[in-house]
Amino acid sequence: MAEPEQPSTARMIDFWLGGEHHYPVDVAAARAFEGAYGPCAAIFRDLRAFLGRAVAAIADAGVDGFLVLGAGLPTRGNVHEVATAASVLYTDVDPVTVRLGQQILADNDRAGYGYGDATDIGTLDRAQLHRFVPGWGRRPVGVVFLGLAAFLDDATLARTLEEIYEAVSPGSFLAFDFDSEELAGYPEALAMMGPQFRMRDPASFGPLLGRWTPTRDGIVAVSRWRVDGVPAAVPDAFHGGLAVKPAG
Ligand SMILES: C[S@@+](CC[C@H](N)C(=O)[O-])C[C@H]1O[C@@H](n2cnc3c(N)ncnc32)[C@H](O)[C@@H]1O
Repeated sequence: MAEPEQPSTARMIDFWLGGEHHYPVDVAAARAFEGAYGPCAAIFRDLRAFLGRAVAAIADAGVDGFLVLGAGLPTRGNVHEVATAASVLYTDVDPVTVRLGQQILADNDRAGYGYGDATDIGTLDRAQLHRFVPGWGRRPVGVVFLGLAAFLDDATLARTLEEIYEAVSPGSFLAFDFDSEELAGYPEALAMMGPQFRMRDPASFGPLLGRWTPTRDGIVAVSRWRVDGVPAAVPDAFHGGLAVKPAG
C-alpha cells in the first residue's frame, strides 16, 4: 500500500499500542498530540484491555459472532484475537483503514474487514455480514462500538444505537465507550481533536443508549470495568460498559 499522506487515528492508536501498522506521518501526529496530552499510550493500552474484558464477557455468554464498528486496525488484542472461537466482521468508514485491515486479515477465514458507516448499518455489505456474523438478526451477537461516540452528536448517536438495537436479535450485546471530560483540562489537546469532538459524563451518556440496558456493572471508567485486581493507574479519559438487548 502506498504510504498515506495524512495521519489516521486508527494508525496512531496502533503506534500507541506498540503495533507495526503505522507510518512516519502517524508517529509525527501521535508525538504532537502527546506534546499536548502525555499519557496516550497508557490510556489506549488500558482501553484495549477493556475491549478484551468486554469481548471475553460477551463470548462467555455464548456469543460467537461479532460486528465491530469504527474498528480501526484488527490487531493488538482486538476482537478476533480475544474471542478465538468466534467469527468477526470489522468495519470502518475510512477506505485506507479498510484496505489495511483487509491486508492484515487476508489469510484469516473467521475474521473479515469491510466498509461500513456506523451511523447507517445499511451501508454494510450484506454478504460479508452474513458470512462473518452468521447469527445477525436471528440469534445474539456482539456489537463493538468503541472510539466512535466522540465524533457523533447526541441525536446521531442515539439514532445510531437505536438502529443497531432494532437490527440485532434479543440477547445481543453492545460494548461501548465515550470520552470523559478529561481533555477539558488540556485546551491545546482539545483543540487538536477538532470542533466535532464531544466529551460526556455517564449521566448524560446513559439516556443515549435508549433501549439498550447496561449490565449491573454500570457505566464507569474503563479501567474499573470488571477489572481483575487493582485498576491501571491511568487518567479516566474513557468511560464505557456493556449493554444488552433483553431476551424475550
Ligand atoms: C478513534 S478510532 C477508534 C478505533 C478502534 N475502535 C479503537 O477503539 O481502537 C475511530 C475509528 O472510527 C472510524 N470512524 C469514524 N466515523 C465513523 C463512522 N461514522 N462509521 C464507521 N467508522 C467511523 C475512523 O475511521 C477510525 O478508524
